[in-house]
Amino acid sequence: MAHNVIEVGADGPYHATCAVAEAAPGEVWLCRCGQSKNKPHCDGSHRAAGFTDPATYTVGSLGEASGDLVVKPAPNGPLLCSGGVEVRDASGTVVFRGEKAALCRCGASTNKPFCDATHRKLGFQAP
Ligand code: FES
Repeated sequence: MAHNVIEVGADGPYHATCAVAEAAPGEVWLCRCGQSKNKPHCDGSHRAAGFTDPATYTVGSLGEASGDLVVKPAPNGPLLCSGGVEVRDASGTVVFRGEKAALCRCGASTNKPFCDATHRKLGFQAP
């Protein structure tokens, strides 16, 4: 079965084909720097903010993945992914495959691309 893929761009957004919350599936660029004024979507603010993350990660859990991907932004927290998803880093390496993931969107996790709850310490605010 084909996987839904989220690509993590170096110094930039997530790129995915998925449904975001209750919206219809489509190609989206999702903010991961925390600075977009159009969250959860990227508006290019990562450039002015000087967001840097080379998006090269170590390979983590590679489990089963099936079903349509839905991404729901948690209020003031991460992007919650449910459904089969494969996360690829900037080199194209699959670093995660599974059916649940919480991706950082505040820009400050020390475990990128995943949320490590740093958003709470920052007081990250996002709908
Ligand atoms: S959203 Fe960035 S650490 Fe949780």
